[in-house]
Amino acid sequence: MSYSFFLLLLLLYPPCCNSLDTITPHQPLNDGDVLLSKDRGAFALGFFSPANSKSRYLGIWFNNISQQTVVWVANRDTPLNTTSGVLSINNHGNLVLHDHNNSFLKPVWSSHVSVSTMSTNASAKLLDTGNFVLIQSSNNSDKVLWQSFDYPGNTYLPYMKLGFDRKTGLNRSLTSWKSPSDPGTGNATYKMDRTGFLPQLFLYANNAPLMRVGPWTGLRLAGAAEMTQDFIFSFFFIDDSNEVSSIYRVNDPNLLSISLLEETGYLRRLVWQGREGKWFELWNGPREECDHYRRCGSNSICNPYHEETFLCQCLPGFEPKSEREWYLKDGSSGCVRKANVSTCRSGEGFVELELVKAPDTSKASVNLGVSMEECRDMCLRDCSCAAYTSANQSSNSGCITWHGDMEDTRKFSQVGQTLFVRVDALELAKYAKHNGHGSPIGKKKMAAILAVSIFFFLFLVATIVMYWFLKVRKQFGRRRNNKHSSFRIHVEENLQNFDNSKHSDLPLLFDLASITSATERFSPANKLGQGGFGSVYKGCLINGREIAVKRLSKNSGQGTEEFKNEVTLLAKLQHRNLVRLLGCCFEKEERMLVYEYLPNKSLDFFIFDETQRSILNWDQRFEIIFGIARGILYLHQDSRLKIIHRDLKASNILLDATMNPKISDFGMAKIFGEDQIQARTRRVVGTYGYMSPEYAMEGQYSTKSDVFSFGVLLLEIVAGKRNTDHDHGRSSPNLIGYVWILWTEGKALDIVDSSLGQSYPCATVLRCIQVGLLCVQENVNNRPSMSEVIVMLGNEAPIRQPQKPAFLFNDSREPEQEPSAAIMEDGSLSVNGITTTSTIFGR
Ligand SMILES: *[C@@H]1O[C@H](CO)[C@@H](O)[C@H](O)[C@H]1NC(C)=O
Ligand SMILES: *[C@@H]1O[C@H](CO)[C@@H](O)[C@H](O)[C@H]1NC(C)=O
Ligand SMILES: *[C@@H]1O[C@H](CO)[C@@H](O)[C@H](O)[C@H]1NC(C)=O
Ligand SMILES: *[C@@H]1O[C@H](CO)[C@@H](O)[C@H](O)[C@H]1NC(C)=O
Ligand SMILES: *[C@@H]1O[C@H](CO)[C@@H](O)[C@H](O)[C@H]1NC(C)=O
Ligand SMILES: *[C@@H]1O[C@H](CO)[C@@H](O)[C@H](O)[C@H]1NC(C)=O
Ligand SMILES: *[C@@H]1O[C@H](CO)[C@@H](O)[C@H](O)[C@H]1NC(C)=O
Ligand SMILES: *[C@@H]1O[C@H](CO)[C@@H](O)[C@H](O)[C@H]1NC(C)=O
Ligand SMILES: *[C@@H]1O[C@H](CO)[C@@H](O)[C@H](O)[C@H]1NC(C)=O
Repeated sequence: MSYSFFLLLLLLYPPCCNSLDTITPHQPLNDGDVLLSKDRGAFALGFFSPANSKSRYLGIWFNNISQQTVVWVANRDTPLNTTSGVLSINNHGNLVLHDHNNSFLKPVWSSHVSVSTMSTNASAKLLDTGNFVLIQSSNNSDKVLWQSFDYPGNTYLPYMKLGFDRKTGLNRSLTSWKSPSDPGTGNATYKMDRTGFLPQLFLYANNAPLMRVGPWTGLRLAGAAEMTQDFIFSFFFIDDSNEVSSIYRVNDPNLLSISLLEETGYLRRLVWQGREGKWFELWNGPREECDHYRRCGSNSICNPYHEETFLCQCLPGFEPKSEREWYLKDGSSGCVRKANVSTCRSGEGFVELELVKAPDTSKASVNLGVSMEECRDMCLRDCSCAAYTSANQSSNSGCITWHGDMEDTRKFSQVGQTLFVRVDALELAKYAKHNGHGSPIGKKKMAAILAVSIFFFLFLVATIVMYWFLKVRKQFGRRRNNKHSSFRIHVEENLQNFDNSKHSDLPLLFDLASITSATERFSPANKLGQGGFGSVYKGCLINGREIAVKRLSKNSGQGTEEFKNEVTLLAKLQHRNLVRLLGCCFEKEERMLVYEYLPNKSLDFFIFDETQRSILNWDQRFEIIFGIARGILYLHQDSRLKIIHRDLKASNILLDATMNPKISDFGMAKIFGEDQIQARTRRVVGTYGYMSPEYAMEGQYSTKSDVFSFGVLLLEIVAGKRNTDHDHGRSSPNLIGYVWILWTEGKALDIVDSSLGQSYPCATVLRCIQVGLLCVQENVNNRPSMSEVIVMLGNEAPIRQPQKPAFLFNDSREPEQEPSAAIMEDGSLSVNGITTTSTIFGR
């Protein structure tokens, strides 16, 4: 009988007859039996064979999920070749693994504890955390002799410690498997580096540092900007006389999560997505160029904002060691002190670099328990001190100083430390002029007050102007044939039919003649819609394929190269929840985008229509919500580019024949550098009701502004009403305000679309509403990321309570039609009147 069949049996009937819960000297575990974890039975311990392997290993895996996920292996380097393995406790109280036929020989694996032969009253238990512990019980007191958590494999489980024990010398680190079919010790490790005062976690591949995940800054690991505490995980760091350990916890124990170190050195944080029955990746690292250890050489800073030009920049007061290499975009030789700078003269000061991962601390000096002022003075007094930062971000105290070359510094855009780099008077003056840095605190405060007053003044003016503008618009609104929202396009998943094999990455280039003939010379009869960007036409190619052609306005001001680049980028996006661009056409003045055509409707047609909305039952709505979330996540994270859509709304969600949602209209999408998190725009474009407050008011957009729009969309889908509709019966400015009122009164289900009747699962719907409210919170940092949204939607685990949402455009002056400010593909041109308003907000 084949092993795999055997394994199948094992997996199909895990909690069956042969499941024990402890191993004692009299009760060993044979191949074929499994040990289930106490209480909840979340984990199982037994013998298994990895995929494509016949070797037998003793391991621990998740008991209750459909995909075999082994989290720990005992005999990883000494596989058994038979199915006659036995795990037992021997006379010395040790856990030993034998091949049954050779039980007199040396064990294949052993826990190697040394206990006195007197006390053999040992037992081994699998705990619900996935920890397998060997316990010695004597005189009513239990002592843990050995535990699997002390010897991690390639999987970092919640509650597991990574680091070292100062007393016993035990090092706890992750080591990858050799390959997915061989759990043997591989080449990649994730461990705590002990050089220097502050221990730092590193990812290594073949003993070379791959990524410095960093020291603990008091708030997070310095290199893991994505460590958000609130939604799913909590992170802890212990550094005391006993141990140095990094630990994480899943806030809800029912949510299964692991961090997996892959053979290549990538660390992936995964969450089990119960609804879909597979692991979902929340984070991986190294993810960006700048995550790679010393991507730029000494005394430089890796800045992903500068991706288009050059990632590496010298720290203040430094210049490239080799101008030539720098010019050729090779930053490896790093930077040196500027030639005619002499330190230790009067007038020196510090340039503040905000939101950075501070340099490698292995050679830094650390002085805990001093304030930042003392730290500054200490650094200034010491001529060799090149920079300082705080050792504990949460108390803003403690002092780290660097006295030599600074390595592996990078820039983040939303969270990070502040690094103070020492410069001479000249340099200081230069930076002060540029950034206003180095100015006394009093001035800063003044500036802040001034900024706030100006902001409120502008806001007032803007409100008045907007009122005026909307009033005028309303009068003219109906004249404009803005059928933008009824623009239907559909793109088939697979483009194989297209003869595009030569440049599979590049979009198809259509010639003007074929487009002209396909659209019958852009005949008005074929016109599908029009927006600020231009018009959309239906077309039919010679081979019978229907297409939708978006003919961009001629006055776009965009050059051919820019247009080509943009289109090439967009054409690379492939996801079942995104409409796909097929190609483009640019000849003479013409700029056109070609999509597949489908005579189907967009989401607004269904959810906001009295009769149509009953077509969508709850399950379909949930699938739509989930599909949209997946599409946005792809834009934000999964694709190599980071894309902010900026105009998510019901009319931009198209539904295919199976009601699978597809996000369309990337007219306003902004492509970010891989790590850029936030940007500002001078022109605020988008749609009222879906715009996040920071975007509408300050022109600041980030992935979290899309999260906001998604939240609005989610609530609209649940309620079957537009956010901007006003039949809420109560004095609430908009739908999200109304939902919030009901939520606080515990009556959130009142908003559910009446056409759903009672036929919906209350718990799931409430969960959706809660997620929706979390997404529309005022504070950007309180909004979850799209991956967190997906985890929250896909699992039953309890989630955080939302706070009061942002109310925006909270008056009755909405136009009947959604004003859709459309622009060219590069986000540079907004055509309709919103530009008027936004120039006031703009800066
Ligand atoms: C195992 O999964 C089933 C169905 O998904 C669930 O009902 C049960 O509570 C789970 N058991 C454990 C121990 O997680
Ligand atoms: C299993 O076979 C491999 C190779 O044939 C050998 O190296 C290994 O020692 C064997 N394991 C045992 C437990 O006999
Ligand atoms: C183990 O022993 C049993 C009987 O004692 C025998 O049938 C079996 O073939 C042996 N297996 C191996 C791998 O030697
Ligand atoms: C071993 O454990 C059993 C039951 O757990 C207990 O009755 C016995 O006293 C223990 N023996 C020793 C030597 O501790
Ligand atoms: C257990 O208790 C006995 C007497 O009560 C004592 O002699 C023995 O040292 C104790 N063993 C341990 C391990 O504490
Ligand atoms: C743990 O690592 C440290 C430093 O790398 C080393 O000195 C020590 O021997 C290691 N301890 C064990 C038990 O391997
Ligand atoms: C590990 O590293 C060695 C030498 O650096 C290499 O030969 C081997 O292929 C690597 N193994 C894996 C699994 O990458
Ligand atoms: C050296 O200093 C002079 C002025 O003192 C300045 O003009 C020049 O740019 C400096 N050179 C460098 C390489 O910074
Ligand atoms: C950092 O500061 C916080 C708040 O004061 C404190 O709770 C924490 O223990 C400090 N951490 C270290 C490592 O000193």
